[in-house]
Amino acid sequence: MKTPQKYWGWCHNHGGMMLKNILVIHGPNLNLLGKREPKIYGKCTLEDINIELEKAAKRLGAKLRIFQANLEGEIVNIIQEQSEKWADAIVINPAAYTHTSVAIRDCLAAVKIPAVEVHISNVFGREEFRHKSLIAPVAAGGVYGFGKESYILGLQAALCTLKKVKK
Ligand code: DQA
Repeated sequence: MKTPQKYWGWCHNHGGMMLKNILVIHGPNLNLLGKREPKIYGKCTLEDINIELEKAAKRLGAKLRIFQANLEGEIVNIIQEQSEKWADAIVINPAAYTHTSVAIRDCLAAVKIPAVEVHISNVFGREEFRHKSLIAPVAAGGVYGFGKESYILGLQAALCTLKKVKK
C-alpha cells in the first residue's frame, strides 16, 4: 500500500496460467487500521491485510495493484486509469464514501469491469446511515462483516465473477 501514484504488488507465475489483474482500493481512514476503533475494525493494520491479500492472490492466480486513498477524486482517478490500462476487476472498500459518493458510484458504472464491494464491519448492524450503499447497485456483489477475511472473500468473488464473464 502506497500513495495513490504508486502501488503495492508483484507478479506471480502461476504455472503458466493467465493471471487476472485485480485492482484493490482501500478508501478513507483505512490507513489507520490497527489504531482506529479496534473494537469495530480489529487490530490488523492495512499492511497486514495487504500481505494476506498477496498470499491469497498467489494461491488463486491473480496479480494485485493495491491503493489506499483518502480523497474521493483520487479514488475516481485510480479506478479510471487502472481499469483503462490494466485491471480485469476491482475489489473496493470505499469506506465512508460507500454511503455518500455519487462520483465513485458513477465511475464504477462507467468503467464496465466488475467490482466487488467489501467492508470489514457488518455495516447493516451499525448506525442507520451505514445501511445505505450507493456502490452496491453498481457492484457485482458485496462482502461485509468478516474483518480482514472480507477482503480475501472479495478477491475470490472478483475472480469468480470474471470466470462468468463471456469474452
Ligand atoms: C467500512 C464501513 C464504513 O461505514 C466506514 O465508514 C469505514 C469502514 C468497513 O470496512 O467496515 O470507514 O467500510
